[in-house]
Amino acid sequence: MTPSPLDAAATESLLAFWRDAGVDACFEDAPVDRTHVAPPPAVKAVAKATASVVATPDAGDAAAEARRAAAAAQTLEELGQAVAAFEGCALRGLGARQAVFCRGNPEAPVLVIGEGPGAEEDARGQPFVGKAGQLLDRMLAEAGLEGRVFITNTVFWRPPGNRSPTPAEQAVCAPFVERAFALLKPKAVLLLGAASAKSILATDEGIMRLRGQWREWRLSEGGVSAPALPTLHPAFLLRQPLAKRQVWADLLSLAASVEG
Ligand code: URA
Repeated sequence: MTPSPLDAAATESLLAFWRDAGVDACFEDAPVDRTHVAPPPAVKAVAKATASVVATPDAGDAAAEARRAAAAAQTLEELGQAVAAFEGCALRGLGARQAVFCRGNPEAPVLVIGEGPGAEEDARGQPFVGKAGQLLDRMLAEAGLEGRVFITNTVFWRPPGNRSPTPAEQAVCAPFVERAFALLKPKAVLLLGAASAKSILATDEGIMRLRGQWREWRLSEGGVSAPALPTLHPAFLLRQPLAKRQVWADLLSLAASVEG
């Protein structure tokens, strides 16, 4: 269908509006893993029969390599070095400047897990140092948790255009997140945003339903477990300040859980 001149003018004006607002890329509601190239139809039948071997061999190898590297780290500092040296995450080659692993107290009672680094984090090499991070810090301090958190993300390289990380990217980085959990042994875990909560709790439930509900995060190996609390992402709060009320309730529940 050929657009009418009126449609074209309206579209141009809308695109200009988004560009001025800083939006420089278009994404769908759900993240699309564009690093995974679908096999041609003739190959599909074979791929179906041997899905686990053929579908994503690189991701499988990368996750195994991540598991080896993470298991070898005996401290959070060594884990940070292992993350920086890890080359298996596809996000590394998609424009990220550097690995962004953690910030905070390596003996903290609370592990905070966000989604993935944004532009400011990518530039500075630390998670949650942009506007959303500043809001997070203020709210944690108000809840009495200043200096009592260790902060990381589900992936350690900035997804292009600040999109959410895909489940495949999160799966490759998961061994490092799990090792951070095992080394820190926190009393409680705070999960920021849908992409974090869904990945860590292995659920498809929406964040509006999950938030405020304590769940158990238990690693399949090593017997490490802790209560985990999903809440709304601070970047969402910057757009929807009224939702701060819900996050505040969640933070008070978190603070009470680590008292004493
Ligand atoms: N959003 C996240 O989820 N993590 C960061 O580190 C920054 C913004």
